[in-house]
Amino acid sequence: MSKGFPTKIISEGKAKLIVPKLDTDSGEPIQHLRSEAPVFYNPVMKTNRDTAVLALRVYQKQTDHPITVCEPMTGSGVRGVRLLLETHEIDNIVLGDLSPSALRLARENAKLNNLYEGVNLRELDANLLLSLHSYPRGRFDYVDIDPYGTPAPFIDQAIAATKNRGIIALTATDMAPLCGVNKRACLRKYGGVPLNGEFCHETALRLMTGAMVRQAAIYEYAATPLFSYYADHYIRAYYRIRKGARRADKQLTQMGYIKYCPTCLHRETSENNMVTTCKCGEEMKVGGPLWLGALSDPMYVDAMIDDLENLTYLVDSKAESIMNLVKGEHGYPVGFFIIDYFCKQVGVKSIATDDALDAIENSGYRVTRVHYDPRGFKTTATASELLEVFKQFKK
Ligand SMILES: C[S@@+](CC[C@H](N)C(=O)[O-])C[C@H]1O[C@@H](n2cnc3c(N)ncnc32)[C@H](O)[C@@H]1O
Ligand SMILES: [Zn+2]
Repeated sequence: MSKGFPTKIISEGKAKLIVPKLDTDSGEPIQHLRSEAPVFYNPVMKTNRDTAVLALRVYQKQTDHPITVCEPMTGSGVRGVRLLLETHEIDNIVLGDLSPSALRLARENAKLNNLYEGVNLRELDANLLLSLHSYPRGRFDYVDIDPYGTPAPFIDQAIAATKNRGIIALTATDMAPLCGVNKRACLRKYGGVPLNGEFCHETALRLMTGAMVRQAAIYEYAATPLFSYYADHYIRAYYRIRKGARRADKQLTQMGYIKYCPTCLHRETSENNMVTTCKCGEEMKVGGPLWLGALSDPMYVDAMIDDLENLTYLVDSKAESIMNLVKGEHGYPVGFFIIDYFCKQVGVKSIATDDALDAIENSGYRVTRVHYDPRGFKTTATASELLEVFKQFKK
């Protein structure tokens, strides 16, 4: 069937897919062509979809009933098709999109993978589709919000359309607001002030989680992050929601602020947003309110990693490497450091990552690499203690 635009067939995970062909013969930059492609398929987001497969499989293993799924912004349908092919039993899956050409392609892709019978396609606004399912028997086990830019306008209806103990996945690609380039937009969308320091991608996850936790609390749900990460200029998180006013209150106690000094790199968490002076004499920047609690549940991440033995095609994938690093980050203080910031402070050109981490460990602190940045680390040492450690490289 003609789609009115050039297409090609590719494979991703266990799926075969018809996707728009971005013809570079014209010499046009790919970015321009991608924005003109009538239906969006972004191969870079494969990692995002890989993690969706893994997260949903763990949920299915922990659940005693066939599950229901909604992806209200499906684009080419790749995510829904992969979930059907690569996870356990899905009783009902609803894929929606505002764009008629996206839905036509999603239908073709479902057919191509012999899934046509099992897929419900809806040409509707995401919030309208979710609200049509926000009654007790209509709710889903898993709702995946994967928009262009911010997921914030869809969080409310995603919560309303998800079952108690179900999972909501959020992707955000609006890194400029979340990393402090556009502070007012961040405040508008996520209700918190961003920080543009070296750990802004972690702050971004904390701001999005803060928005999720607050919105869930309105419905007396506690939202808890099961797995969250940053990669390829987007952030992604999987939350379990659980009914209970007291549970929701408890989550709200983990909201707060981060105070950060860009001069000496000191950072601390705080219950208030009062501007304070750092030990070094500089005024500290304040970010938040945001989520200060754990960003992932190590048991859930472990279960996702263990499941890789059943999905060998994802072994050695970017998703695996992210999950392993995220697991290691658990239990460390909020925020991370970057080796090169200390090199600058002590006037050393460069220090190999292994050498830097060994020096920190040999000085008696715990330290781990982070998934956010290949030169980043989390540690129990403070910024001033780290400065002393790094000074030894001057000799
Ligand atoms: C980032 S793409 C989705 C990609 C897809 N989830 C995947 O994994 O490849 C965002 C999609 O949302 C659709 N969209 C944008 N605003 C929407 C809205 N308000 N309601 C429903 N769909 C919307 C767009 O047409 C586009 O197909
Ligand atoms: Zn300072």
